[in-house]
Amino acid sequence: MCSIIGYKGKNSAAPILVDSLKKMEYRGYDSVGVATIDDGSILVRKGIGKVIEVNKSLNISEMAGKIGIGHTRWATHGGVTDSNAHPHSACNKNIAVVHNGIIENYKELKAELTAKGHVFSSETDTEVIAHLLEINISGGIRKAMIDTCKSLKGNFAFVAVFQDGTIAGARYEEPLIIGVANDGYFISSDVLGFLQYTDKAIFLENGDICIVDSSKLEIFDFEGSPVAHPITQVAWELGDIDKGKYAHHTLKEINDQKQTVVHAGRQDEVMMQKFCDILGNAKSIYITGSGTSYHSALLFKHMLARFGKIRAETVMSSEAEYALSSMEADSILVAISQSGETADVLDSVKLAKSQGAKILSILNVTTSSLARSSDAFLSTNCGPEIGVAATKSFTGQLALIYNVTDRLCNGCLGTSKAEFAIAVENVLANVASIAKAAEKMNGATDIYLLGRSLHYPVALEGALKLKELAYVHAEGIAAGELKHGPLALMEKNTIVIMLNPHDDTFSDTISNAHEIKARGATVIGISDSKDDVYDHWIEIPRLNQSAFYPLVEVIPLQILAYQLALANSVDPDYPRNLAKSVTVR
Ligand code: G6P
Repeated sequence: MCSIIGYKGKNSAAPILVDSLKKMEYRGYDSVGVATIDDGSILVRKGIGKVIEVNKSLNISEMAGKIGIGHTRWATHGGVTDSNAHPHSACNKNIAVVHNGIIENYKELKAELTAKGHVFSSETDTEVIAHLLEINISGGIRKAMIDTCKSLKGNFAFVAVFQDGTIAGARYEEPLIIGVANDGYFISSDVLGFLQYTDKAIFLENGDICIVDSSKLEIFDFEGSPVAHPITQVAWELGDIDKGKYAHHTLKEINDQKQTVVHAGRQDEVMMQKFCDILGNAKSIYITGSGTSYHSALLFKHMLARFGKIRAETVMSSEAEYALSSMEADSILVAISQSGETADVLDSVKLAKSQGAKILSILNVTTSSLARSSDAFLSTNCGPEIGVAATKSFTGQLALIYNVTDRLCNGCLGTSKAEFAIAVENVLANVASIAKAAEKMNGATDIYLLGRSLHYPVALEGALKLKELAYVHAEGIAAGELKHGPLALMEKNTIVIMLNPHDDTFSDTISNAHEIKARGATVIGISDSKDDVYDHWIEIPRLNQSAFYPLVEVIPLQILAYQLALANSVDPDYPRNLAKSVTVR
C-alpha cells in the first residue's frame, strides 16, 4: 500500500518523481523519499509527512540527476520515522530500493545478513532487499535481481537503482507497470505515476523482472528466461485527477456523482451480454468485495434475489479463505472492487479459480490485476477516485448492479440513466439541510444508522464513511434487530439516522423511529416523506422505482461524513492510518 516509481530518461528525474508521487499518494501517505544518481553517487532525501510537505522541507525536486526512484509509505513493518522511510540503501550505499508489499521471511534474512556483517539502519522488511542485492551484485545486476527475488518470500514489487545508472524492478503479487515514453522509461505501481508523460504501458506479471540499462528495456522471469508483454495504450482520461474548484477530492467526487451514475450505464454491449449470460446461467454464485465494495455486494445479492429470482451468497474478501473452501467447481465468483488491486479480493479470486470457478468483476480501474484475472468485467467508468473514502465508485457500482439486474429480469426495473442523474442532482442541491443535520451530530461520539432490506447495506456504508472520514464511532444496524439489543443503547443525546424512504420497509422503520424517540434519542430521517418523529428531516426525491433509493440516500451520508471530517479537523482526502488501495493482507 505504498507507491513506488522509478524513472530513467533525458529529463531531470526528481521533479518528475515528486509529481508522480503526488498522483499516487492515495496509496499511502505517512512518509516520502527519493533517490537520484548524480555524478556516479546515489543521493537520498526522505522524511515523514505528505509529498508536498516533505518536498518543501527537503527540496526533493531540486535533487540533481536524470535517473531516480521514489516512494510514498504506508507503514507495515517499523514505525513512521525518517529512517524507516524509503528508499533503503545497503552498506556501501551503491544501491537504493523502494518496495511495496511485505517480505514475510525478512527476519530470517536479516539474521543471516547480520551474521555476514551487514548493518541495518531501519526496522523495515524492505531493507533486506537492498542488502541482498549488494551481496548478489558480484555476478552482475541481472543475476543479482534473479537471486534476490528467489530469496524473498511474501508479496512484493520493488524498484532498485544502481550506482552505474541502471534501474530494475521486480513483481510478485503487487502491481508494477512500465511506462514507455519517447525519452525514457518509468517503473510504477500505478499508471497514474506516469500517465502525464506517456500513455504507453507494459503490465508486468507475477514473477517478472525488468531492467532499464543505458536506455534499453529488458524483461525476463525469475529463471532468467525472456518475457514478452504487449505495449498497451492507456486512456488518458485515467490521469484526470484535478480537484478543480473543490477544496478536496472527496467533495469533488461526491459532486461528480451526477455524471458518474450516468457514465456507469455506458457499457460495451458484447461484454455486458457476456457478463449477464455467465451470471444468468450460473449454478451457484458468490459475491465478494472489501469495505465499500462489500456493501455493494450485499446490495447485489438483494437485487438478484428479489428481481432476478437468483440466489447468491456474499463473502467478505478477507473471510473468503475460510468461506470459499468448499466452492462447487462450476461456481461463479463476482468480485467487486474500485481499484481491482485489493489483496483480499485478489486472493479470493485466486482461491475461487483454483477450485474451477469463473470470475466476473465489477471494477473501476480497467487496467488492474482484477480486470486481467476476470472472465468478464464491467467498468463503473467513474474516472480516477482519489479520496480514500469511496464515494462515486459506490454509486457507480450500484448503477451497474441495477443495469445487470434489469437485464436479468427482462427489464422489470426499468433503469433510467436520466432518472438517476436528476435524483442525484436533487440530493446534492439539498446540502444546506444536510449541513443542519451535521450541526446536530457535531461532537457525538457514537452514531447509529438504521435501515431494513436494501437500506441496511447503505446503513453499513454510511457508518463506514463516518468512521473513515470523521473518526466517529458509527454502527449500521438492520432496523428489525433494534429490539434484540441495540435499543439498550438509546438514551438522551444518542444520534440515530433512519434510512426510511417510502417503500415496503417504511412503516416498520417508522415504528422503530418512535421506539428510539421514546427513549430520548435524536432521530434524523433520510426519506422522501416528512414525519413528525424526525428531529431533523433530510429530504430525498421520490423515485418511481423504489429499488433505486440506495443510490440517492447514500449521498447525504457521504456529505455528512465529509462535513463532520472538516468539523473534526480531519483532511477528508487522507484520513489517518488508511490507504485507498490495500494491497497487503
Ligand atoms: C480500502 C479503502 C476502502 C475501500 C476498500 C476496498 O480499505 O480504504 O475505502 O472500500 O479498500 O477497495 P476496492 O478498491 O477493492 O474497492
